[in-house]
Amino acid sequence: MIKIAVLVSGSGSNLQALIDANLSGQIVGVISNKPDAYALERAKNAGIQTAAIEHKQYPTREAFDAVMHQQLLDWDVDLVILAGFMRILSAQFVQSWEGKMVNIHPSLLPNYKGMHTHKRVLNTGDVFHGCTVHYVTAELDAGQALAQGVVKVSNQDTETSLANRVHELEHIIYPQVVEWICTGALKHTSNGVIYRDHPMKAPVQFCKF
Ligand code: GRF
Repeated sequence: MIKIAVLVSGSGSNLQALIDANLSGQIVGVISNKPDAYALERAKNAGIQTAAIEHKQYPTREAFDAVMHQQLLDWDVDLVILAGFMRILSAQFVQSWEGKMVNIHPSLLPNYKGMHTHKRVLNTGDVFHGCTVHYVTAELDAGQALAQGVVKVSNQDTETSLANRVHELEHIIYPQVVEWICTGALKHTSNGVIYRDHPMKAPVQFCKF
């Protein structure tokens, strides 16, 4: 069974969705860089071991990442899931987990990398918005996209209403992608990403209009 670690910084609603999904893999640990993250409570309530590794206590990004890396090795982790983890990872850490680390980002990548995506979508007047699960590579929010959840933006939408709808889809697509990885339906190989025995050319799309 695949052993999973989830990295968090905040509320952890995606972590909760992963816990509730009863995955074929096992979530063996949750790491937070913020000791007061509510996500840690969710993990404890589910009987999952936790580690609070406060980034502020380390002189460099690399030093902090090295401690996280060691914790992941100690837990014998196969797959690292970033779920609202608000730290940029060092190149070395990303390289160590390449092909074994996924993230969810609240936009239809490659559009709106970075922060404040809902606001930027509203300001631009886009018709569609959503979220993307992707492999993590050294370049921010740029690894291969595996699945996208698409919502339609209405002119009644506020940043909050849009964020809520995108979040609902996140809670569907993230556990789904992780389950594909756990069952081997989705594989990262030296020849690229394979989905159900075919090269994955585009992310799987989930729409909620
Ligand atoms: C989500 O919007 C996710 O897309 C982004 O961080 C947020 C995490 O939310 N990467 P939560 O902590 O899972 O509720």
